[in-house]
Amino acid sequence: MSTRYPLHRPIQGKVREVRTAALTRAIARCTGPRHGARGGLWQIAHVERYTAENRANWDERVPAHVASPDYQVAEFAADPGFLSRVVRFDRPRLGDLTGQRGIHLQCHIGTDTVSLARLGASMTGVDFSAPAIEQATALAAAAGADATFATCDVYAAAEVAGPGRFDFVYTGIGALCWLPSVRRWAAVVADLLRPGGRLFIREGHPVLWSLQDGRGDDLLVIDYPYFERPEPTSFDEPGTYVRTDAVFERTVTHEWNHGLGDIVTALLEAGMSITGLIEHDSVPWEALPGLMEPAGDGEWRLTDRPWRLPHSYTLQAVRRG
Ligand SMILES: C[S@@+](CC[C@H](N)C(=O)[O-])C[C@H]1O[C@@H](n2cnc3c(N)ncnc32)[C@H](O)[C@@H]1O
Repeated sequence: MSTRYPLHRPIQGKVREVRTAALTRAIARCTGPRHGARGGLWQIAHVERYTAENRANWDERVPAHVASPDYQVAEFAADPGFLSRVVRFDRPRLGDLTGQRGIHLQCHIGTDTVSLARLGASMTGVDFSAPAIEQATALAAAAGADATFATCDVYAAAEVAGPGRFDFVYTGIGALCWLPSVRRWAAVVADLLRPGGRLFIREGHPVLWSLQDGRGDDLLVIDYPYFERPEPTSFDEPGTYVRTDAVFERTVTHEWNHGLGDIVTALLEAGMSITGLIEHDSVPWEALPGLMEPAGDGEWRLTDRPWRLPHSYTLQAVRRG
């Protein structure tokens, strides 16, 4: 039986409280002053457990994603010109990557990282899931791609990969929702880039993330946070977003939304200039099951009046000199 991953279903009831000095230090690295002492402390108390539970969930998804037809892993070795659908979508906006040094944040099993290498970039991929990095490394070797990988939390990427080394940072498609602070993320992006280097992100739109799913009608109802909140929305979901028969055990996850203004402001404050922002009427997974239809080449779009909803966006920004 195949499973599809609905967008949301929050856990009922309160998460339990855990407070240790290690947690306090961990969240202090991951949050800015924005939420104030009360919000910061709340996050400090929980972020280590959120991250550990999210990582366990991602570790478990890796073999299922590698085996799923949706990630098309076998195609990379079989066809030296093969590119992931996500990168094919981005290609008109990516420009010439020849000779550029790129870093892919939250690279998962490396399909997009290898695709960017095939467009001429020298790529580094980072992800906090060791099984994902193992698979990404194997994929790059099988594909003969110029890509190396490291296991690390995204907030530690500049320490691990080296500050100021990259011509571009690439990320998105289900990446930002795992991060408690978009300000902290924006600071990491700016740290990784050389002056004049650019960020390229295509991501699920925060309005899409805020929608209630499984309503049984065609109404689009905002039910989850649009703005970044210190506390996550927690889910207990059995499946994943690709076709698979795998049965998962580590099914609890914790996610944060970030409004478009939160993201743009965080980048501006980190020393980046916004050079492009496009909202798209499609998204590369079936984000609202039952309400969407295939839109070609792996994209999905609302069946009924898709112009009601910004499905995803591409944002580009350049590090100021
Ligand atoms: C939906 S995938 C990103 C997807 C990528 N666009 C793809 O489909 O290949 C999300 C990735 O974020 C990673 N991730 C989540 N939280 C992270 C964190 N705090 N630091 C680093 N990686 C993280 C997960 O391990 C997972 O590989």
